[in-house]
Amino acid sequence: MTVSQEKGPEEPQMPRGRPVEKLLVVVMGVSGCGKSTLGAHIASALALPFIDADDLHPLENVEKMSRGEPLTDDDRAPWLERVRDAAAAAAAHISADRASSTVVACSALKRAYREVLRCGPLRAVFVHPHGARDVLLSRMSARKNHFMKEGMLDSQIKTLEDPTGEDDVVRVPVEAGMTEQVQISLKGLEDLGVIRRM
Ligand SMILES: Nc1ncnc2c1ncn2[C@@H]1O[C@H](COP(=O)(O)OP(=O)(O)O)[C@@H](O)[C@H]1O
Ligand SMILES: [Mg+2]
Repeated sequence: MTVSQEKGPEEPQMPRGRPVEKLLVVVMGVSGCGKSTLGAHIASALALPFIDADDLHPLENVEKMSRGEPLTDDDRAPWLERVRDAAAAAAAHISADRASSTVVACSALKRAYREVLRCGPLRAVFVHPHGARDVLLSRMSARKNHFMKEGMLDSQIKTLEDPTGEDDVVRVPVEAGMTEQVQISLKGLEDLGVIRRM
């Protein structure tokens, strides 16, 4: 499990903020959309722990994915509960002068999966990098040593139930650079009233 409070790569205009209530910030979306990268940067910008949900899959799920087999809802249910509980546990370690919150990268493709994350003690808010398939494919091709096969991208795009219209969702253009993505994410979270900019 990756729980880190280390700073992400330093960038000059990277915005900062702090939660005003107990949050589970979920950076969601299909493979290659930038969940892990953006999630780590948002965690750094908000000085919160970061958990990559991929690290919490049971071994059977990882093996299935490396064989190119999509996971079933039954495979995902215990994993999502584990992600939600690990996020709450990590948030509980934050000092009392700050709202206890955690950032996770988790695909959360279906509404039912997001509802599992919404059922915990933290208020789940979703940041969704979203964009064209060719951008996603080129990002995935650039990434090495990852168990997710490129062939699964189309299955993920098909599975995605777009969260637009649900509560507490911030949409981010996938093609934007990292600093701009963090700015859009923090602006969206500020507009939802769940963080304050610093
Ligand atoms: N905004 C961005 N601009 C350029 N490259 C990016 C951006 N976000 C992510 N990447 C790169 O795209 C690839 C996929 O990102 P990653 O965070 O691993 O996606 P995911 O966790 O959603 O599968 C990585 O090589 C990452 O460095
Ligand atoms: Mg990832």
